[in-house]
Amino acid sequence: MGTEQKNAITQNHPAEDPHLRRGPRGFPLLPGGYGRSTYYTGAPSPYAIRGEGYRVWDDRGHELIDANNNFTSLIHGNAHPEITEAATKALTAGASWGIPNLYEWDLADLLLSRLPDLDQVRFANSGTEAVMSAIRIARASTGRERVIVTKGGYHGTSEVALVPGGPSYQRGVTQGVINDVTAVPLNDVEALRQEVEAAPESYAAIILDLLPNRAGLLRISEDFVHTARELATRYGIVLIIDEVISLRLGFNGFSGEYGVSPDLLTTGKLIGGGFPVGAVAGRAELMAEVDPTRPGSLPHGGTFSGNPVSMAAGAVALRLFTQEEVKRLNHLGDTTRDAVNARIADAGWEIRGRGSLLRAVPSGAEKVGERTQHELWWASYERGLLGSPANLLSLSTPMDEKVAEDIADRLTDAVLAVADGTATKGEK
Ligand SMILES: Cc1ncc(COP(=O)(O)O)c(C=O)c1O
Repeated sequence: MGTEQKNAITQNHPAEDPHLRRGPRGFPLLPGGYGRSTYYTGAPSPYAIRGEGYRVWDDRGHELIDANNNFTSLIHGNAHPEITEAATKALTAGASWGIPNLYEWDLADLLLSRLPDLDQVRFANSGTEAVMSAIRIARASTGRERVIVTKGGYHGTSEVALVPGGPSYQRGVTQGVINDVTAVPLNDVEALRQEVEAAPESYAAIILDLLPNRAGLLRISEDFVHTARELATRYGIVLIIDEVISLRLGFNGFSGEYGVSPDLLTTGKLIGGGFPVGAVAGRAELMAEVDPTRPGSLPHGGTFSGNPVSMAAGAVALRLFTQEEVKRLNHLGDTTRDAVNARIADAGWEIRGRGSLLRAVPSGAEKVGERTQHELWWASYERGLLGSPANLLSLSTPMDEKVAEDIADRLTDAVLAVADGTATKGEK
């Protein structure tokens, strides 16, 4: 981006306004200066100005490879022309209405055609809402209250979903809610079996993320998943697979790669084409819980649930994410991971993940401290690579082999700088 263009953009940029930075009462108008806690990288953040394809430009004059992709949701990168056109068309037709719109059917059809064992879908505004609704459907249909999750997993910010994050995530959550959630260690098949068999009739749901990012982006073992499926079937527990992030890993979602059928599947992110979205897909007898034509059905709303802009953009995003593109992007991720791993192993780091999702962590680490995560975020940023604050990188379809090689070089360099202690901490 030229200096002139940058100046034109930043001239009226709110973040440049000292009044907004400090606020009328002497502190920022946004808590800590941030509109989302998940943006936080330990030092004042750059502001995004513009994005196109796999690139983003910020207010500090940096051109970045966008491997954050708004936390994995921009599967086709920034401002994809066909998605932009569909969203604009929906927007100019009226943005959102208080009666159903036809776009919902299109996205439902596209999503369910990829989830052959599931019958119906209900849209929401976020992954958080989707998981929240799935849990309520499971509880209502089983008449039970407790749920099983895996330790350290993340399923959004509803109260139940925060429990597996441990004490710091549980602040503000009632003890009653905490008591209803059992967190078993990832891939500990025996612990899962024991917990369920100790009181099978108390459990409404088992919730699994097959590649839990916050638990270190280690994939769940086949044995663990199939045991969860078997226990759920045997004891009438609802198996919820949370594919808010992982749906991108297979044409039929990541559960399709495992060959496991959930009773309910939650998703979001990529299926909104860059706009707010969440979805619960499920078997018809469970989805009947939110069927308003049935007496006593569960209330489900959301003023913007199923809004035409998200639905229209999401439908194009899914259509463009063909079987071939899923494969190509996963292959690109695999080669990037292998290339970086070969160059950072001696420095005591590794790249984890699967397909188009990658994350650098100190070798074998179960938990990575926030300071280290932030150090790597800044080291990557200074080398023109934008990841998530927890260092999750996701590829997007505008990327090709050349971009992937570029990502591998920048990431290697950033990891090595953190490993040898020469990385700065965002003071630039
Ligand atoms: C597995 C998983 N579930 C749920 C959520 C919550 O989704 P959202 O941020 O759209 O509320 C996330 C968010 O990253 C997630 O990774």
